[in-house]
Amino acid sequence: MQVSVAPFLFAILCLFGISRASQHNAPHFSVNNEKGRGRTLPKKDNSLVTPVVVNINFQQSLGTITSHFVGVTIDTGAVEHNWATLDFSSKKVQTLARALVPTFFRLGGTSADAMTYVLDTGRDHSDHSTIMTPAKPGFNMTAEQWVTINEFVQTVGWDFIFDFNALKRNADGSWNPDNARQLLQFSADRNYTIAGFEMGNEYDHYNNKYNTTVTPSQLAKDVVSLQSLLSEFPKYYGSFIIGPETGGIHEEYFQAFLAAGGSKVVRAASFHHYYFAGADRILSRFTDVKIMDSFKLQVDSVFNQTRSVDALLPVWLSETSSAYNGGAKGQSDRFVAGFLWLDKLGVASSKGIQTLLRQDFYGGNYGLVDTDLNPTPDFWLTVLYKRIVRGAVFNATGRHDVRVYAACANTDNFKAGSVVVYMLNPNNYTVTFDLHQFHTQHRDRYSLTAGDQDGLLSKYMALNGVKLELVHDALPHLNPAKASPGLEKMAPYSYTFLVFPDARASLCMQA
Ligand SMILES: *[C@@H]1O[C@H](CO)[C@@H](O)[C@H](O)[C@H]1NC(C)=O
Ligand SMILES: *[C@@H]1O[C@H](CO)[C@@H](O)[C@H](O)[C@H]1NC(C)=O
Ligand SMILES: *[C@@H]1O[C@H](CO)[C@@H](O)[C@H](O)[C@H]1NC(C)=O
Ligand SMILES: *[C@@H]1O[C@H](CO)[C@@H](O)[C@H](O)[C@H]1NC(C)=O
Ligand SMILES: *[C@@H]1O[C@H](CO)[C@@H](O)[C@H](O)[C@H]1NC(C)=O
Ligand SMILES: *[C@@H]1O[C@H](CO)[C@@H](O)[C@H](O)[C@H]1NC(C)=O
Repeated sequence: MQVSVAPFLFAILCLFGISRASQHNAPHFSVNNEKGRGRTLPKKDNSLVTPVVVNINFQQSLGTITSHFVGVTIDTGAVEHNWATLDFSSKKVQTLARALVPTFFRLGGTSADAMTYVLDTGRDHSDHSTIMTPAKPGFNMTAEQWVTINEFVQTVGWDFIFDFNALKRNADGSWNPDNARQLLQFSADRNYTIAGFEMGNEYDHYNNKYNTTVTPSQLAKDVVSLQSLLSEFPKYYGSFIIGPETGGIHEEYFQAFLAAGGSKVVRAASFHHYYFAGADRILSRFTDVKIMDSFKLQVDSVFNQTRSVDALLPVWLSETSSAYNGGAKGQSDRFVAGFLWLDKLGVASSKGIQTLLRQDFYGGNYGLVDTDLNPTPDFWLTVLYKRIVRGAVFNATGRHDVRVYAACANTDNFKAGSVVVYMLNPNNYTVTFDLHQFHTQHRDRYSLTAGDQDGLLSKYMALNGVKLELVHDALPHLNPAKASPGLEKMAPYSYTFLVFPDARASLCMQA
């Protein structure tokens, strides 16, 4: 392993134009040869040479990162493709899935609305004559497919959330729960645990997708029907419902659903978010801080709408990724995707979002696991995040061209009182950070860079210069580098977690 590290590191450094010398001349902040051929920079480019002074307010918490803060999804489209290449019996897949535990797992998406559960072909008692046929043809989920996913979820220990077929509707427009009842009966008979449910997906887009509409007030009535359906089953009586699962751009739908009674039924107000369309494939957007900021505005709007109806209702981002319609090919599954993903985790936690579900574990161009069932860079980033970050979130301020977040470090892996600061340098220049509040403290450093010479488009991620790969289908050790006090220098296009075990932050003292 060691033998292969040096050439990789060298390749990465060369790629970004960093000479070995500049890496070691720590206090010397002149920008390397990539710009200006060694000349001093114009004054307006001050940001390139001046350290970023990071200030963190440890006195109050902006939110709390729980063990279930980050979850994953699989799109119902995967059922339509009979799980494509996803082999649930593969030991490797199970290892990757277990590495994310504890986690929520959502099976849902556009096609969930039009899915029919055909669990026992001999005993289909639902009255199809009353059920509206969606414009887009629906499809069947078989008993075998349902058993497969439930057995997998139980095997790996995921907490399941299932999205019901909201387009099964009666002539009067109300949701018809007959087929859902069949699914619950089948599941209860087999004692499948299902933590939560959703009623359909992105109603605010129904007109485009299904040439139909479901009003917010109808949807609020539908979740009441779902609640009463769940109460028929002791096994699911205590399961939660989240909604309204809006796609996010028609925001008035969100508030109207909550105001029409939805807020009294759902455990969390839920919405979806993507930054841009997958087909656009504009690489620079993945490292653009203006794109990162666009998410903040939407979160503010969602909180405004939620709080105008309910002062305490949690907010979940129940389906989210970089780019919609399956992600950006050759980008959303590469090292570069980590910038938007880690920033989203930082923003979501700082804004008080309780849970977000990453689209997706497998499928499209944004999977944490690729079609060959190997982990993508965002898999490693997600696992590291879950292991390192947990507890109170602190307000950290840095500079416009970088991103800095701070929270308690996970006491499962670090001593009580430890703090983690995570930083993104989405620029093609080196940035130095002055974490003056930790001037004298040792730190554990997890420095994440592209894993090979493909740079931003690398299929791999390196941790402290070592390319991350499974070792005989098991996870490698994900150990930090022990680092001394001082200024923190971040390579171009990198992100870093810094854990301060001696921080003794009072809000991080409780386990
Ligand atoms: C760095 O990025 C700036 C603008 O984003 C660009 O003008 C410059 O050419 C880039 N430098 C290198 C070495 O890629
Ligand atoms: C779904 O199953 C039903 C039987 O319940 C069958 O009539 C129908 O053709 C199936 N639809 C598809 C798309 O396979
Ligand atoms: C059903 O599942 C629950 C929760 O996993 C478990 O506690 C219980 O023992 C199971 N019951 C049966 C009959 O297997
Ligand atoms: C959409 O539905 C309306 C009425 O329900 C119908 O007149 C129209 O043809 C449909 N459009 C498409 C594209 O199916
Ligand atoms: C949210 O509400 C605050 C206070 O009413 C307002 O200042 C802000 O502009 C709103 N933000 C959005 C994105 O709606
Ligand atoms: C974080 O701190 C900055 C600088 O003190 C302040 O402007 C900002 O409002 C704070 N944010 C929150 C959410 O408290």
